[in-house]
Amino acid sequence: PEPPAAMAVPQAGQKGLILLKRIGRIDPHSLDDYRATGGYEALRRAFHLGPAEVIREVTDAGLLGRGGAAFPTGRKWQATASQPDHPHYLVCNADESEPGTFKDRVLMEGDPYALIEAMTIAGYATGAHLGYLYLRGEYPRALERLTHALAQARARGLLGGNVLGQGYAFDIEIRRGAGAYICGEETALFNSIEGYRGEPRSKPPFPVEKGLFGKPTTANNVETLVNVLPILTMGAQAYAAIGTPASTGPKLFCVSGKVERPGIYELPFGATLGDLLELAGKPDQLRAVLLGGAAGGFVRGDELDIPLTFEGTRAAGTTLGSGVVLALDDTVPLPRLLLRIAEFFRDESCGQCVPCRVGTVRQEEALHRIAERTGAAAADDIALLRDVGRAMKDASICGLGQTAWNAVESAIDRLGTYA
Ligand code: NAI
Ligand code: SF4
Repeated sequence: PEPPAAMAVPQAGQKGLILLKRIGRIDPHSLDDYRATGGYEALRRAFHLGPAEVIREVTDAGLLGRGGAAFPTGRKWQATASQPDHPHYLVCNADESEPGTFKDRVLMEGDPYALIEAMTIAGYATGAHLGYLYLRGEYPRALERLTHALAQARARGLLGGNVLGQGYAFDIEIRRGAGAYICGEETALFNSIEGYRGEPRSKPPFPVEKGLFGKPTTANNVETLVNVLPILTMGAQAYAAIGTPASTGPKLFCVSGKVERPGIYELPFGATLGDLLELAGKPDQLRAVLLGGAAGGFVRGDELDIPLTFEGTRAAGTTLGSGVVLALDDTVPLPRLLLRIAEFFRDESCGQCVPCRVGTVRQEEALHRIAERTGAAAADDIALLRDVGRAMKDASICGLGQTAWNAVESAIDRLGTYA
């Protein structure tokens, strides 16, 4: 059966939107609609500038990765472009699986040509001729729309041996995920495409040097790539003037939980948590907000002045992650929610390294014991959680194990959940 459409875009149709400007306003199947609303202007400008200048624009714009880790995109592109080994690959990470994250789904379902154009620009800049779009398996509507859009783009000379008649060859293949959260970790994703188990590789070497099939690879999140279009159409300087000096441009936020209008919101970086929750309809008794998803952390309901920027959330001892804002009021049983998060990490751990394989089990067991005591924690269970959490953070191979204790830690220390 067809799944429900991605959560609403409460601002659709509002003036001034950059990333969401076409969502709900054009027919996502229509290449003509896309071109009539500025589509393919950015690629034309990219061909005019040439690869090195495109990378310079992206660098000067200050674009930071939107998948959660905020790595500078221009630096990543430059690092791949300068590798002597060939071929170079481009990988779009569309395996959006962080609980509470659904922004990439909205972009792919509502504006699929934007992602295809942005991938073509990224491929051109970094010297790739083939791009893989690794799509979350549970996104069938995005698959249908992207597949249609790829066929249209090929038929109209926007992909293939001679893109826009400019002598550049580029094409895109879709690979579907099969439901494993860990395959969103870029190196596990490469293994999955290559036909191996979805287990992360040790880094370094970073993908820019040895990535997919051992070749230089640029891996970017969907929202990151889509930001390249306004950078090229409005210019790096105008783009960098949006947001704050350290977090430039517009950002999509996935607001869910106890709010009146859940959905995707686009705001310039620098708006506060309170600004965003006002837009979404804040509950009267806001107790806590989970920022950044299961891998992120809780803040208290009275910390609404936290600026929604990478530097602002870091300074506040939390993270923006991929833009999850999950609002909780007094009716939400936090110990039960924490147990659910712990179950999730235990379930999704690939089991390759001991701290995460064993740590996620021990963490869940301790939270079960606490839940059985109707939410009261014995001091030894809290001490055990801290020990296990520290081991996972310090010694796990990848981000899953390193962040599996974040939510529990912040609930203990910031919210006083078991006090
Ligand atoms: P990371 O910090 O290891 O790497 C970020 C990116 O920068 C990667 O592409 C990496 O290859 C690149 N990089 C880092 N150092 C580099 C260097 N010296 N040279 C060249 N490239 C370099 O973080 P990771 O593990 O890729 O992502 C973790 C984040 O993912 C978490 O913060 C979490 O918020 C987020 N996440 C998002 C999900 C989603 O559904 N959007 C799901 C799960 C986690
Ligand atoms: Fe696998 Fe967890 Fe180790 Fe990551 S940290 S490699 S998910 S066992």
